[in-house]
Amino acid sequence: MTKTPDSDSAPLQIITGKARLAGVLGWPVSHSRSPALHNYWLRRYGIDGAYVPLPVRPDQFEAAVRGLQAAGFRGANVTIPHKEAACALADELDPSAQRAGAVNTLVFEADGRIRGLSTDGSGFVASLEASGLRLPASGRALLLGAGGAARSVAAALQDGGVQVAVTNRTQERADTLARLLPGLEVVPWAEWEAGLGGYDLLVNTTSLGMEGGPDPLFCPSLKAASQALVVADIVYVPRQTPLLAEAAQQGLKTLGGLGMLLHQARLGFREWFGQDPVVDAQTEAALTASL
Ligand code: ATR
Repeated sequence: MTKTPDSDSAPLQIITGKARLAGVLGWPVSHSRSPALHNYWLRRYGIDGAYVPLPVRPDQFEAAVRGLQAAGFRGANVTIPHKEAACALADELDPSAQRAGAVNTLVFEADGRIRGLSTDGSGFVASLEASGLRLPASGRALLLGAGGAARSVAAALQDGGVQVAVTNRTQERADTLARLLPGLEVVPWAEWEAGLGGYDLLVNTTSLGMEGGPDPLFCPSLKAASQALVVADIVYVPRQTPLLAEAAQQGLKTLGGLGMLLHQARLGFREWFGQDPVVDAQTEAALTASL
């Protein structure tokens, strides 16, 4: 008998004719860790269900969603490049999706309606809290980047009472974000390192520092930081980016991107499979095994 790495410990997945179904729509989608994570939870809880990767071209997105509904799926995650299209397609948006202007989780209701949620930002905040890294009341956060990830993290932090500033290589995008999220400050890209002393939290929401990204060695100066600064990165490959290594070197508290990935997945799992899944060391190990 061929021995699989987890054949001794992991329960088998149950997939009967009544299995609950969900998946992730993306193009490409082969890089997604969501199937490994959701199927791990399905096995762990003994739930009759399956979660599959769904490679769908942008021009086929709506047809694919309607097809999944027709095939009895409970819903789906949505990743690049479909997050805005999913927002437009949903019949109902929860407040997080309205603020993020994007949807990463679709729930197909029994009456045919499609509900859209954005769980990236709340996943980031949940990850921060799970690590015991609470910000002071009316704390201040600086976000690097002004893309979709920055928008959802900024909105979730603002919802928690944090004063948020963004800085971006292309200032125009930061200005656009500030118009969409009232109260958001914009800091010029050339000035953020020197002004770091005024913040309690720094979050890299760009792909800088990511393996295979535009600049895997990205390592700005943190010299102006106060000792209380928490440095977070939403990049999770590598687990410790050069930015996080530099922060740790300076004795600052750090948070990697894996926790956000795990926590953003919980809400969808609960909606589709009826169980609030736990994020613990075993869950993390199951996901890192797939990295
Ligand atoms: P997402 O929606 O996942 O956040 P995105 O919209 O492509 O992805 O945003 C990527 C972010 O990384 C942007 O803030 C981008 O800055 P620009 O708006 O100036 O393009 C930032 N980024 C990417 N490569 C960069 C680089 N070499 N230097 C600085 N910022 C970079």
